[in-house]
Amino acid sequence: MKPLVAPSMLSANFARLADDLEMVNRSEADWLHIDVMDGVFVPNISIGFPVLKYVVELSTKPLDVHLMIIQPEKFIPELKALGIRTMNVHYEACPHLHRVIHQIGDAGMLPVVTLNPATPVSMLTDIIQDVYMVLVMSVNPGFGGQSFIEHSLAKVRELRRLITQSGSKALIEVDGGVNLHTGAQLIEAGADVLVAGNAIFNAPHPQEVIRAMKQL
Ligand code: DX5
Ligand code: ZN
Repeated sequence: MKPLVAPSMLSANFARLADDLEMVNRSEADWLHIDVMDGVFVPNISIGFPVLKYVVELSTKPLDVHLMIIQPEKFIPELKALGIRTMNVHYEACPHLHRVIHQIGDAGMLPVVTLNPATPVSMLTDIIQDVYMVLVMSVNPGFGGQSFIEHSLAKVRELRRLITQSGSKALIEVDGGVNLHTGAQLIEAGADVLVAGNAIFNAPHPQEVIRAMKQL
């Protein structure tokens, strides 16, 4: 199966967002990845609903929303109303993860659990059957353009084993420092979905990078 590619809007030019979204619309990208930060769970603030509303209007790609916020469950109704497809919450932000995952599913969105680099794959043993996807962070979340953490490859392999052994159908998505080089290693390790910000939006020809990622 060809990898799915989700450009991360965090690296777009926010002063010319419509142009960058149009570039993604016309590309071979599968989804658009959107990073929401609260300055509490991560040491940065990105965008919220006033911006998201216009992204929903302008993007023709399914939206993959990565919530780097505490208490993400508070915003299930807003995300549902916007027609968001996948809602990604952090394992570390949800003491009652099972409840949150099921609330997301009940709202008609696809639930995704996200792991910070220091959170082991083994924490997912009891939730892997219930999620649409696992997002493995290959950098510490909060900023684009960081270097890929090599250990993420071992984590993806371990997660692939857990998924196979448990009979789960969960997809594996990876986010942070993904480019054509690390992307190839991740696909070999068992990843299904590549998220990339800097490697796409700061390239001279972003659509060609997206096309090349689809060929990995
Ligand atoms: C980081 C975000 C990423 C970010 C990735 O916290 O979750 O989606 O945009 O950026 P790159 O691909 O530049 O590492
Ligand atoms: Zn992200």
